[in-house]
Amino acid sequence: LKIVNNDALDMTHSSHHTRAPSGRIAYVGGRYLPHGSAGVHIEDRGLQFADSIYEVCAVTDGRLLDEEGHLARLERSLGAIGMKAPLERGPLRAVMREMVRRNHLRDGLLYLQVTRGAYARDHMMPATAKPTLIMTTRRLAPEIVEERRRNGVSVVTRPDIRWRRCDIKATALLANVMAKTEARRAGAYEVWMVDEQGFVTEGASTNAWIVTREGRVVTRDLSSSILAGVTRATLLRAAAAAGIHFEERRFSVGEARAAAEAFITSATGGVIPVTRIDEDKIGSGVPGEITRRMHELYRALSASEAQS
Ligand code: PDD
Repeated sequence: LKIVNNDALDMTHSSHHTRAPSGRIAYVGGRYLPHGSAGVHIEDRGLQFADSIYEVCAVTDGRLLDEEGHLARLERSLGAIGMKAPLERGPLRAVMREMVRRNHLRDGLLYLQVTRGAYARDHMMPATAKPTLIMTTRRLAPEIVEERRRNGVSVVTRPDIRWRRCDIKATALLANVMAKTEARRAGAYEVWMVDEQGFVTEGASTNAWIVTREGRVVTRDLSSSILAGVTRATLLRAAAAAGIHFEERRFSVGEARAAAEAFITSATGGVIPVTRIDEDKIGSGVPGEITRRMHELYRALSASEAQS
């Protein structure tokens, strides 16, 4: 199987004329392959129906962050769509580590996807199981993330048009992709999706947080309306241990606009300050003190729990 070795896929090389292998290694169907020539079958249900689950895990200094949380959520998402993990946790961890090692990854992301596998196309889920396990890695320069953390980012709000099982980390992300694209075209970094009652659900690929003028840290309570972020969970544990008051509840766009601070969390960036929502500056329009503290708490706890 071959896929087009386009430069967007293989970002280590930018020239259209050179097709030298990048050295990136992908894992697919039990094999480690050059990234540019790794692929899945054209009748893979991940491709046809987005019948698949994924995880994104940050790698810092060569170590996987929040690994157990991501593995637990993977198992939960798979269970929710009636699939079993293709590998037990131990062997899965071993492949994840091997991918970090083979790709010489210090700072970046590990992407993991489990599809239901390739079958003759039929909406009905097949009775037999032959899942496809895919992993890729990607470098992410820490300076790029740090620049966002220093300056903050802006978000725009849009109606949340996703399905009602956003707690499942499925690759059916078209609504997220469309909303994120609109946000980027509007000059913002992220979109905050808003439910029919006017409450913020979450970002296209991040959880949403505000800090009230009373200094309370607020993030939406868990339900099928949002993804249970692993970063969110670690940060809440860190905040509890530090004695910081937080509330897990819904907040409206109006409350967010009037907040003292706001931020987003995800594996890809940890805690990133939000300094603008639509047309409004948040607080004084610069990253807030409590947000910075939350970043420090998250970083310290996730680093202390990371295993080599
Ligand atoms: N996105 N909400 C949504 C809709 C997400 O897609 C993500 C993660 C999060 C944050 O979850 P966590 O803290 O576990 O990364 C919240 C990943 C990073 C992605 O799609 O790239």
